[in-house]
Amino acid sequence: MESKETEHKLWGGRFTHSTDPKLEALNESLHFDKRMYAEDIEGSKAFAQGLSRINLLTKEEMMQICDGLDKIQIEWDKNEFAIKNGDEDIHTANERRLKELIGEPATKLHVGRSRNDQVVTDMKLWLKKNLGVLQYEICELIRVVATRSLKEIEIIMPGYTHLQRAQPVRWSHYLLSHAWNLKNDCDRLENNLRLLDLLPLGSGALAGNPFNIDRLELAKSLQFADVTDNSMQAVGDRNFIADFLFWASMVGIHLSRLAEDLIIYSSKEFEFVTIDESYSTGSSLMPQKRNPDSLELIRCIGGSLFGQCCSFMMVLKSLPSTYNKDLQCDKESMFSTFDKLKSILQVATGTVKTLKVNEDKCKSALSYEMLATDVAYYLVRKGVAFRAAHHIAGQVVAEAEKKNVSINALTLEELKNISLHFEVDIGKVWNYENSIEQYRAIGGTAKVSVINQIRKLEAWLVNKEKLA
Ligand code: ARG
Repeated sequence: MESKETEHKLWGGRFTHSTDPKLEALNESLHFDKRMYAEDIEGSKAFAQGLSRINLLTKEEMMQICDGLDKIQIEWDKNEFAIKNGDEDIHTANERRLKELIGEPATKLHVGRSRNDQVVTDMKLWLKKNLGVLQYEICELIRVVATRSLKEIEIIMPGYTHLQRAQPVRWSHYLLSHAWNLKNDCDRLENNLRLLDLLPLGSGALAGNPFNIDRLELAKSLQFADVTDNSMQAVGDRNFIADFLFWASMVGIHLSRLAEDLIIYSSKEFEFVTIDESYSTGSSLMPQKRNPDSLELIRCIGGSLFGQCCSFMMVLKSLPSTYNKDLQCDKESMFSTFDKLKSILQVATGTVKTLKVNEDKCKSALSYEMLATDVAYYLVRKGVAFRAAHHIAGQVVAEAEKKNVSINALTLEELKNISLHFEVDIGKVWNYENSIEQYRAIGGTAKVSVINQIRKLEAWLVNKEKLA
């Protein structure tokens, strides 16, 4: 009776006892790896074709297998695939079903293949297919930022360092700073995609393929750029998962920083922005509250992605070479990170798209002390060396503090007492727009530079769309 229970298991031959139900439950990964059913089928079809090319399957058998796999795909698509007790993972479930559908030829499919090379193949296929979704969501957010930035280019606000008022900047320049981080993330993803593009199929359990299957042909049919070079490395390789998790953590961190800024800017103390009602919630106790929950969730989830990355790195650390069952948990990290990142990207896009920027509040938060650097630059333009100019401007700030007035309220006479370089044209310095317009070099906050940034991002987005 016990031998019967182990019979249906693909690896059941050498076993006489059935698996303890508690281990069976722990070992079972179908409830999460079924998400790769299409990739598993795609890989199996390519493998069947590969086997038929080396005459391990007749053309007829290969076609029966492919037809059967197509039927299984439809069952999954329609949510009609009947999972059976003992289906351990997506690979065994699909093979079990294939045998039910087409009988004998199904039992020839796995020759020279192992779930070890199969699972890495499936995961790489899945990531290659789905990373574009995240890239699309990032581009949506960048697009929203670029559109807002052009429309709201006249709005000026305090720029901060150490969260202290530093220099006046355009709101658009500030907002675009986040878009550029996200654009860098997309560039980083391109690097990851290159490494992902090596096909592990044909590595077997660890030693390689004994029937000289044409791996390059397999790569071509599965649209991989090339094949992996060492079978032992290939079956134990989860570097591409670690890369993905780190990449996602970085995007999460970028989103969390945007979220934190906007949480601060939406507080009553700042009020630079108002988060739309559709992206905030109220308090069950305090009727006046409008809480930026969307941003707080982005901040929290964005940070927690690194937790998943970190935890998976610990799974990898000190693992013996090649495949170990520890690697099975890679999929939960991959899917959960994928889903969480996608949802916070979408919420970030919606929040940024719908928020209201309060131009008056932004402007009234500027103070003339923020132009102290401009005083130093004024002196530099009069021929004073920067260090001396900085010192004089510092004295101007100190003098204003002593007199308890704003620095622009000091008279020319008072200024001349500090330095004879001050002339009547110092009056022109006390203008925030003029200050901002000095920063015309590439990457600065002057209007022309900000417009250039927007154009560059827009062109990049158009190019991305073309490639998609
Ligand atoms: N479900 C397994 C995983 O995801 C597939 C590979 C199993 N390989 C094995 N030698 N037990 O890791």
